[in-house]
Amino acid sequence: MSKVNVILGTFYGDEGKGKIIDYLSENADASIRCSGGNNAGHTINVNGVKYAFHLIPSGILNENTKAIIGNGVVIDPKVLITEIEELKANGHKVDNLYISDKAHIIMPYHIMMDRLQEELRAGNKIGTTARGIGPAYSDKYERSGIRVEDFISERFESLARDNIMKKNKIFSMYGKEELDIDKTIEEYKGYANYLRKYVVDSVDMLHTMLEEGKNIVCEGAQATLLDIDFGNYPFVTSSNPTIGGVLTGTGIGPKYIGEVYGVLKAYSSKVGEGMYLTEQNNEIGDLIRELGHEYGTTTKRPRRCGWLDLVALKYSARLNGLTGLAINHVDTIGKLDKIKLCVAYEYKGERTTRFSTNMDYLKECTPIYEEFDGNFGDISNIKRREDLPENAKKYLDRIEEVVKVPIKFIGTGADRDNMIIVK
Ligand code: GDP
Ligand code: IMO
Ligand code: MG
Repeated sequence: MSKVNVILGTFYGDEGKGKIIDYLSENADASIRCSGGNNAGHTINVNGVKYAFHLIPSGILNENTKAIIGNGVVIDPKVLITEIEELKANGHKVDNLYISDKAHIIMPYHIMMDRLQEELRAGNKIGTTARGIGPAYSDKYERSGIRVEDFISERFESLARDNIMKKNKIFSMYGKEELDIDKTIEEYKGYANYLRKYVVDSVDMLHTMLEEGKNIVCEGAQATLLDIDFGNYPFVTSSNPTIGGVLTGTGIGPKYIGEVYGVLKAYSSKVGEGMYLTEQNNEIGDLIRELGHEYGTTTKRPRRCGWLDLVALKYSARLNGLTGLAINHVDTIGKLDKIKLCVAYEYKGERTTRFSTNMDYLKECTPIYEEFDGNFGDISNIKRREDLPENAKKYLDRIEEVVKVPIKFIGTGADRDNMIIVK
């Protein structure tokens, strides 16, 4: 039976999932995005060209791989069309793109509502990407969402009209500008016409491929600590970027799941608000940000940076049933003289490896660090783990020893080829 290999973020996003997906898609028949929207930004560097995908699955660059936007995704059609056009401008045909008829559409009122809600949160902002993600998922669960199949049908006009009328009442209540109903509908009908040819019944398509023994990879967006259930709520996104979201966001049962790779960086980073225990809000954090070019792919915000937290990583391994780790930016951390690794927390005077996103618990926890030597030198062309410098080996061995999940990929640079595939 063919299996779906899954790639998930283990921390707060931006671990380098795009690069791993691109590699795994090379030999896959399909790559499918299962959750989130254009809050994601997945970077792939190929021969000096930098691609940043927000909605299009990172497998798209391999023309023989079907790149599917799954039902669990929320789609801003304007952003998707821009991405398609950019790919075409770079010489890609984009004939291998497919969009699930059950994915939901992000409408302009979702983006306006995202901004309004952040404004109303005043001192308790989440720091969202302001892309309308939360409001689009809220409407999906409230059952007033517009699915792709509605978007491309005659139903669209009346659904959109009802929704915009309701949202305009809220905007007017808060003294905000209202949407022009007819103009918005006309504009979005144009987007629907453009995207129509990509729409498929993705559930049937996936299962037919599985029955034919095809090789499929699933691209997670966001990450475990941003999960609506398991992340540090409310500083999370509005979907399940963990393993459960893979099943509901694609329509495949657990028996089809093969490898579950958890992607992390050799340090950690976060955008947006919320508690982050190993953050280095000091010159070390600033140095990591500069060495790793840690500025958001989507919003360009400077990312908060810090040491790798193995207590949180173990939580992520448990939740997702990780079968392998992909560690990126080993080259970046290796530029430091000394590296710290959080192996446990001190909680009320006791050592613990229990992670919880309970804020009252986390407030009482202090990271316990082990120190490692850095200065790995140039590792960008190394292709075997055993050829890495001793300092890098010691650091990676310790991560594996604590988390008890084997390392399968080691990132040694930003380019597609800067990677060690552990045999
Ligand atoms: P994603 O959202 O998980 O796909 O990650 P992003 O693309 O938002 O951020 C990861 C960043 O790290 C991108 O700029 C990548 O090009 C870069 N990157 C990925 N792996 C490596 C690596 O091993 N070394 C270095 N130096 N950069 C990497
Ligand atoms: P990738 O797939 C990093 C964060 C936002 C904010 C919170 C809620 O590139 O790893 P939202 O707009 O989703 O309502 O914002 O979630 N966030 C991400 N941070 N990488 C991402 O995606 C993210 N997607 C959402 O910064 O803190
Ligand atoms: Mg990203």
